[in-house]
Amino acid sequence: MEAKRIVLIMGGGIAAYKCLDLIRRLRERGIGVRVVMTRAAQEFVTPLSVSALSNERVFTDLFDLDDEREIGHIRLSRQCELIVVAPATADLIAKAANGLANDLASAVLLASDKRILMAPAMNPRMWLNPATQRNVRQLSADGVTFVGPAIGEMAEAGEAGQGRLVEVPDLVAAIEELLSRPVVGADAAGPLAGRHIVVTSGPTHEPIDPVRYIANRSSGKQGHAIAAAAVAAGAQVTLISGPVNVPAPAGATVMPVETAEQMLKAVREALPADVGIFCAAVADWRVAQPSSEKIKKSDDVQRPRLELVENPDILKTIAQLDTGRPELVIGFAAETESVVAYGSKKHQSKGADWIVANDVSGEGVSGGVMGGERNRVHLISGDGVESWPEMSKREVADALIARVAEFLGERKITKQPKGGKAK
Ligand code: C5P
Repeated sequence: MEAKRIVLIMGGGIAAYKCLDLIRRLRERGIGVRVVMTRAAQEFVTPLSVSALSNERVFTDLFDLDDEREIGHIRLSRQCELIVVAPATADLIAKAANGLANDLASAVLLASDKRILMAPAMNPRMWLNPATQRNVRQLSADGVTFVGPAIGEMAEAGEAGQGRLVEVPDLVAAIEELLSRPVVGADAAGPLAGRHIVVTSGPTHEPIDPVRYIANRSSGKQGHAIAAAAVAAGAQVTLISGPVNVPAPAGATVMPVETAEQMLKAVREALPADVGIFCAAVADWRVAQPSSEKIKKSDDVQRPRLELVENPDILKTIAQLDTGRPELVIGFAAETESVVAYGSKKHQSKGADWIVANDVSGEGVSGGVMGGERNRVHLISGDGVESWPEMSKREVADALIARVAEFLGERKITKQPKGGKAK
């Protein structure tokens, strides 16, 4: 007997063919797959091939007398550990966000009391449309986990951006991760359920010309670990990331950006949020007028002079918002000397509630901090300075998110009128 069982709801999209491989990979791992196909999905993949691979009959109709007698949408949605929607089209997401139930796929989702994982796939403009983003935020607040969409070429010629279904191994990993998480009564949702957390991570790249840029040394490891820890605690997470080589944490909605200006715009779009964690190593300056052509290195041309202008300070901008300020604003301070003194200065000058100050000189931290796996930080707040021992970046992330949950938990009981700053 197969130990775990999922229901896979296939939406209609060109990426539906990837589900055939997904079903095989899951069954190889001993995970049973029962498939519901929307009418549109059947235009892309035949129920016959899905049935052959899943070794089960495929469910397609809400009103099928045989099905309703044998196994209706209620039982279908309950006899599994997890419901996976892939590809999750804009239409399926919208239906689920609004509680519609006019076909079998949406009825199964509405009748479900199980965890739901959605892997969106659609045209990038559809993904970025405020209606889709609103629906995704609503579903995340309802406890739905998202994986992807990934960035890349679209099936439509000449179209590229964020909208591709994540690759099958990433989808398998997200499914296994969710199946491995214990479900324990009402606490299953985690201490940050219903909370929206915005995290910035990685460096920014400020163009000099089409091939050169100014950047900071930042791997994104700490910021991405914080986003992953917040997802694990049940939060809806928007991760606004500069260019990095670390994988996006499953369950976070990733907004990829390059420059500081794009990062600030993305943060504003992601608000409202309960918590903002600004971990990105934002470049302090950008080139006033980046060249549209590659600047040539030649003897008879003068050495180029770069005029720099200051970038917006994202942390400061958000920490000092009059309306729409997150309840808790956390900044990072990467310093190479007098870490606590400089960190405390930033705590004041930026208006952040907490500053996580770390020594990036790397002295004493095995492997170094920049790009490394470990970190040693000081948490600076209105209550003073707490110096934490050296830990892995993942442990720092878990500890910080635990503190965030503790803070919000206390605020729930003694909630202040809106607009006040966190202490
Ligand atoms: O670069 P600095 O040491 O001032 O960074 C401290 C904090 O401010 C970090 O949390 C960083 O993400 C944030 N920051 C920002 N925008 C900038 C510069 C820094 O959000 N332009």
